[in-house]
Amino acid sequence: MSIPTDRECIDYLIEAGCKKRVIIHCCTVRAVAEEMLTGIKDADGDLVIAGALLHDIGRAEDHSIMHAYIGSKMVENLGLPKELVDIVRKHTGAGLDADDVAEMGLPAGDYMPRTLEEKIVAHADNLVSDNRVVTHEHSVSKLVLKGAFRGADRVEMLHMELSDYYGADLDVISSKIGEFPKLKLIDEYDLE
Ligand SMILES: [Fe+2]
Repeated sequence: MSIPTDRECIDYLIEAGCKKRVIIHCCTVRAVAEEMLTGIKDADGDLVIAGALLHDIGRAEDHSIMHAYIGSKMVENLGLPKELVDIVRKHTGAGLDADDVAEMGLPAGDYMPRTLEEKIVAHADNLVSDNRVVTHEHSVSKLVLKGAFRGADRVEMLHMELSDYYGADLDVISSKIGEFPKLKLIDEYDLE
């Protein structure tokens, strides 16, 4: 199956039972990822956009750290490409290492974003809090408060790596697209 379009992704989110707030969040992450793509030319844009829209599909069922694994299974069951399954499983923070996976009791597997597309979606999500575009410090401090110091360091590293690809510090994105970017897709749907 090929990479789904914007509308197909939104339909998958609605059919899965995602709340409007989750769908608005996913569309905000899509807007941030789209801005990243203007500078990061080597990434597969369609894959990034679909991954950004679907990354939180698992929140239809669970809001714990398990939502990434659950979401990846949902995407797999929809028959969507493996690249999307992997983006969804690996999107939390800047990934989870083997120690995190064991500590959190997650099903065994690779939860570290490794491809450019996996990294862009994970980090676009780090730059969005609910429906607001934030700086990466927002995600770093949330992890530090939880005592997840390795995770916080990984977000810093990923921020530097992708800022290099983008050609500027990615914290400029909120001033480029706005703290609450216009979400055309949301306007097109009458979500409850
Ligand atoms: Fe998520």
